[in-house]
Amino acid sequence: MSASFPRIDPPKMGEPYLLTPGPLTTSYPVKQAMLRDFGSWDDDFRAMTARLRAGLLELIEDREGAFDCVPMQGSGTFAVESMLGSFIAPDGKVLVLSNGAYGKRTAEIMRYLGRAHMVIDKGDYMPPRGDEVAQALAADPAITDVVLVHCETSSGILNPVEEISEAVYRAGRRLFIDSMSAFGAIDLKVSDIRYEALVSSANKCIEGVPGFGFVLARKSLLAASRGNCHSLSLDLVAQWEAMEKTGQWRFTPPTHVVAAFLAALAAHRAEGGVAARGARYQRNRDVMVAGMRALGFETLLKERWLSPIIVTFFCPADPAFSFTKFYALMKARGFIIYPGKLTVVDSFRIGCIGQMDEYVMRDVVAAARDALQEMGVQDAAPPAAALAERARLAA
Ligand SMILES: Cc1ncc(COP(=O)(O)O)c(C=O)c1O
Repeated sequence: MSASFPRIDPPKMGEPYLLTPGPLTTSYPVKQAMLRDFGSWDDDFRAMTARLRAGLLELIEDREGAFDCVPMQGSGTFAVESMLGSFIAPDGKVLVLSNGAYGKRTAEIMRYLGRAHMVIDKGDYMPPRGDEVAQALAADPAITDVVLVHCETSSGILNPVEEISEAVYRAGRRLFIDSMSAFGAIDLKVSDIRYEALVSSANKCIEGVPGFGFVLARKSLLAASRGNCHSLSLDLVAQWEAMEKTGQWRFTPPTHVVAAFLAALAAHRAEGGVAARGARYQRNRDVMVAGMRALGFETLLKERWLSPIIVTFFCPADPAFSFTKFYALMKARGFIIYPGKLTVVDSFRIGCIGQMDEYVMRDVVAAARDALQEMGVQDAAPPAAALAERARLAA
């Protein structure tokens, strides 16, 4: 393991690390940026909003200036709903690619919006593949748009966005990407992957605090989508038009969150951008997964589908193991982990994103070892049913 990376400072207030998919552990400078108040109408804040939009556009390397960035108040789901409600025409039809909770939520949003849609449901964690998308699009000419979750955070699977984009555009349809938990750490350069718009939020891989999401979308699409949206507050086109005209958000902006986000964006740039951020998360994952496997834990996913964002582990079969106890013991050692979201077998998740490095991940593994010992767990191996479930994925 390289020692050339300086250690990241631990949380200054002594709070536990958040090994979760967000809100996540943020740096002290990010928190400090929130100590000033800003007037939402003031030129200083308008300049901050402009910097935020430009800084995010830099990350997709849109050299032709075809895209724009529109931030939207609220959590990530608000931004997803804003993107879908604003861009899917009322007479459009959406193919939702679902392999976990966030794919399901996309379908739920379509149901709320009353937009026609069909779902390819791959269950808890099987990836949607390009050939099945091509088949579905060939079978139903009414489908206009496809929505994909980039990293399905409920299992941690990194879905194959390139092959899906190819299938979608070969069939002459449009792709929308929920890259909530991946954007900023995994490349989505417009020169590499074709899509109409992506959505993410402040408190994921850019390492800001929660309070707004953002959509990076083709300007031609924004210009052509006026009047689609079902909602006043979530109308992305109206937000875009107002920002273009006045430099302001339409309704009260999360001023402190924007200030924190600019500090987070500057740190992202200083670290080396998307590639370096992704590489740090990958080291976090590799150290943590290797250590957990050495303790006997098994990952849900095989290497190929493991994201550097969050990893799902099966709960051990040993009757001495209890997730509630494990959670409490990990928290007492300074680490907040995350429960699993699988429907078939018991699991838990450990996130790799946020202000932490491989040294922290070694401490996480040591804490897990101590917690197992304290519970009297002899063997962290999962039940046979869990391994059988995993074999389905490999098939
Ligand atoms: C892929 C994905 N989509 C959507 C969301 C929803 O974001 P929020 O919980 O901020 O509304 C999340 C949250 O983690 C996510 O990981």
